[in-house]
Amino acid sequence: MIRRATVADSRAIAEIGVRGWQAAYRGILPKGFLAGLSIAARETAWRAILEADPDGAAPAWVAERDGAVEAFLSSGPPRDNDVPRPAAEVYAIYVLPAAWRHGLGRGLMRTAIRHWNAAGTTTLVLWVLERNERGRAFYEATGWRPDGGRQTVELGGIATVEIRYRWYYDAVGQSAVVAIRSGRHG
Ligand SMILES: CC(C)(COP(=O)(O)OP(=O)(O)OC[C@H]1O[C@@H](n2cnc3c(N)ncnc32)[C@H](O)[C@@H]1OP(=O)(O)O)[C@@H](O)C(=O)NCCC(=O)NCCS
Repeated sequence: MIRRATVADSRAIAEIGVRGWQAAYRGILPKGFLAGLSIAARETAWRAILEADPDGAAPAWVAERDGAVEAFLSSGPPRDNDVPRPAAEVYAIYVLPAAWRHGLGRGLMRTAIRHWNAAGTTTLVLWVLERNERGRAFYEATGWRPDGGRQTVELGGIATVEIRYRWYYDAVGQSAVVAIRSGRHG
C-alpha cells in the first residue's frame, strides 16, 4: 500500500535511508562515512521536514508491506534555476535492501509522477550519483532520461559526480505512465 508520509513515519524513513545508503553506495562512498550514518540524526531531520510541510508543497510517500514501511519517496520544488517551470524534483527514493526488486520503487514513482502531473507540473527532475548503476537502471526502466545536467558534490569527504535525469511529460506523457504500470521498460 502506498500512502502519504506523516511525521509518525520519520523513524522508518530514517532507517530506510541509512540502510539504503549503506547498501547502495558501498564501494562508491567511503566505508567509514557509510558506517557512521546516524538513524537518530536523520529521524530528527525528517521529523522537521514532515512537520514543516502543512500545505503539501513537498510531498513524500511511503510504501508498506504487511503493515511495515519499507520504502519512501520525497519530492518538492526543484533546486535548479535552469529547469523550466512549472517543475518539481524527486529528492530521494529508497527501498529497504531486503525489499528491492519487488515493485515498491515503481509504485512510489508512479504515485509521484501522477501527483505532479495532476498538479500541472510539466517538468520533473532528479539527481543520481553517476556510479549508482542500480539506481540509474531503475530510473531508465521507469521512463526517466539523462538531460545533460552534471555536477560534482562532496559526500563523505570525496568528490562524486551526480547526473540529472528528467521525466518528459510532454514528449512521453501518458505512454510512459503506462510503461511504468505494465513493467515494460520505458
Ligand atoms: C533504485 C531503487 C529505488 C529501486 O527500487 P525497487 O523497488 O528495487 O525497484 P522495482 O522493483 O520497482 O523495479 C522496477 C524496475 O526497475 C529496474 N530495476 C530495478 N532495480 C534494478 C537493478 N538492480 N538492476 C537493473 N534494473 C533494475 C527493473 O526494470 C525493474 O523492473 P523488473 O523488476 O520488472 O525488471 C532501490 O533499488 C533502492 O532503494 N536503491 C538504493 C537507493 C537508490 O539508489 N536510490 C536512487 C538514488 S537517489
